[in-house]
Amino acid sequence: MIANEVIVDLGAIRHNFFEIKRLAGPETRILAVVKSDAYGHGMIPVASTLESAGVDSFGVFELAEALDLRKAGCAVPILIMMGITLDEVSAVIENNLTVALFQQDIAEKLSREALEHGTVTPVHLKVDTGMTRLGVPSEEVADFLRNLLPLKGIRLEGIFSHLAVSDEPDHPFTAQQISTFLQAVEECKRLGVCMDAVHVSNSGGLFGKKGLDFGMVRPGIVLYGSPPAEGLGAATFMPAMTFRSRIIQVRTVPAGTSISYGCTYITRSSATIATIPVGYDDGYSRQLSNKGEVLVHGKRVPVVGRVCMNLTMLDVSSLQGVAVGDEVVLLGTQGKERITAEEIARKIGTISYEVYCTIGKSNRRTYYDSQINIKYTDEPLGKLRIVDDFLPPPKVIHNIYFPAYHRSMDSTKAL
Ligand SMILES: Cc1ncc(COP(=O)(O)O)c(C=O)c1O
Repeated sequence: MIANEVIVDLGAIRHNFFEIKRLAGPETRILAVVKSDAYGHGMIPVASTLESAGVDSFGVFELAEALDLRKAGCAVPILIMMGITLDEVSAVIENNLTVALFQQDIAEKLSREALEHGTVTPVHLKVDTGMTRLGVPSEEVADFLRNLLPLKGIRLEGIFSHLAVSDEPDHPFTAQQISTFLQAVEECKRLGVCMDAVHVSNSGGLFGKKGLDFGMVRPGIVLYGSPPAEGLGAATFMPAMTFRSRIIQVRTVPAGTSISYGCTYITRSSATIATIPVGYDDGYSRQLSNKGEVLVHGKRVPVVGRVCMNLTMLDVSSLQGVAVGDEVVLLGTQGKERITAEEIARKIGTISYEVYCTIGKSNRRTYYDSQINIKYTDEPLGKLRIVDDFLPPPKVIHNIYFPAYHRSMDSTKAL
């Protein structure tokens, strides 16, 4: 029996991608942000699904992620949003990657090595319009560009910036950032550089309709089915991640029984306590101690006492017949109830992004496709195998998986 499992619905991710396309408009290209292992959902299966669905390009954080994508067979452009270091230049050129550019020395080395390889490397100019995080400060764009113009081995294919408060649609800072960004775009035009890819819009920008007419958008969190901020129009998006476990012990205890470390919970009356093998090591935050709720038999039950490293206790007194082996959903849907990443995030003072990254990366992941009923696991990558005991039960099983990267992966199929 698999006790703990993150289940990712690739059908939901595909659905969200088409919803983004609908919002962004038919002419707008999509650069899907799959950095940080696709926000904990698994970069390769997610990217493969999106590539099959017709995504235009991917955004990753660093070179290693881009190389993993190429190794898996990804053929579309990949933007390394962190930029690169000098010793990474050769790998970028050899793997036909696109760099977020904001350093002159990187530009010079990229150009030199590209010419040596008889090629021209695409770059996207990263402009800092107010995040004060990464990029050429907007007031230095003109000088930066002038220094780039003589470099014949790079092609200024794109220009982009990142919005700081796009999740608050009426915040005046976004308009200010976009205005600054447009001045940089104008500067490029004045110098005769025509950028093909102009992009600022993350998920918040998409909902706030900011920068949708620039021709490219760069969504992350909505691909995974969550809004960038609670209440920011994601009703048509489907959360893709479920985190479930199973009960490993059930016992009835009398009133006055203390539960877990620190004796922070004492039963007021006789109670049925169920234990699950999930703790903060599995990405279930210790801050959910005495605060979290999970789903058992389709009903919400409270986490009682402190979340331990590997174990958590639930008060299941409100339910009848709870037994060892019963499924517990900590994130996702069971019956008619749902626990969202936003709910967990609110309880522990963070954002859904962190909930997904932490839970997704701490657990064995299994994949299925709610739209075409296929299921598979990504462990170990390239040796996909079907898992039994699955929720929801698939009606049809097709012997296909990750079609976009199919050819480059070990085709060991156990279906
Ligand atoms: C540069 C950049 N662009 C786009 C995104 C996607 O943002 P979101 O997940 O809010 O859509 C991120 C995410 O952090 C980012 O760092």
